[in-house]
Amino acid sequence: MEFTPLRISTVKPLRELTFDLYIFFKEQFLCYAKRGESLTEDKFQKLKTQKIAKFFITESDEMNYQKFLDLLLSETLSNPNIVVDEKVNMVEGAASSALERMQKDPGSESAYKATEKAAKSMRQVILGNPDALKKIFGKKVEKNEEIIKHSLNVCALAVKLAEVKKCTEAEMDDIGTAALIHDIGITNMHKDDIPLFYKPKKLLTNDEKRIYYHHCKDAANLLKDKPYVTASIMELIVNHEEVLSGFGPNKKKKLSLSEEILSLVNNYDKRIITNKTSPTQTLKDMMIDELGNYDLKLLNDFKKVLQTEGLLDI
Ligand SMILES: [Fe+2]
Ligand SMILES: [Fe+2]
Repeated sequence: MEFTPLRISTVKPLRELTFDLYIFFKEQFLCYAKRGESLTEDKFQKLKTQKIAKFFITESDEMNYQKFLDLLLSETLSNPNIVVDEKVNMVEGAASSALERMQKDPGSESAYKATEKAAKSMRQVILGNPDALKKIFGKKVEKNEEIIKHSLNVCALAVKLAEVKKCTEAEMDDIGTAALIHDIGITNMHKDDIPLFYKPKKLLTNDEKRIYYHHCKDAANLLKDKPYVTASIMELIVNHEEVLSGFGPNKKKKLSLSEEILSLVNNYDKRIITNKTSPTQTLKDMMIDELGNYDLKLLNDFKKVLQTEGLLDI
């Protein structure tokens, strides 16, 4: 039997499960709750705090789980009585589950569709709740979750910047989807090369840079020939490390607004992870280092977003 991972935050207590829920325990998959059953509030809270616990469904239940999640998401996001923390947790869970599936099986259409859906939900939460962005950026990164957390951060912040720059809803959703999967090339790199992700860009040797930059093309290779991956998503992913000075991996000097937004936000969040600088310091550094790499007006609008969203005081 094949298993697909899921985040427990996408399951709600006292709600009938439409799939069998498995847990990975002592090197084997055990059925934890059966279809038709529901988790008690107590059990659910316990599971949520056990960070080591990993949950799964069988591949044949993927559709059932996705329907369950879609309904739960739309109910949760549209309910004004549900607090923003719960909305954020659920959308993060949906996005993390989808991305984890993409990392494991980049060719899976259902994982891709789940990613698109998660990006849309992310937009809804970010644009509809003034505190949501701050909540997402305020969360600590769990061990071994750095790339997933980075992808969620970039998705949330890029969508916000896209709204400020008056992008259309379709453009925002493309940016959001591309942001979630933009670094799947990294998880698929040779394991000895993965530490390059954690090294400050300034410290990479030319050889390391060449190896590291390969993840943009690798991502495109993983997704090519998939009719459901649109050309604009492909472009966004392949060009997410490009800068206007032409020193990116593809040496592009002209970027669409969406590409520039994704590249800028990716650059910001990546610096925070690798350089371990505070948001304020990171922004200051970027205003110097990235001059000529991004449109000055865009950099200033980005600064304004960080200020108004309260992301500089985290
Ligand atoms: Fe990247
Ligand atoms: Fe990235």
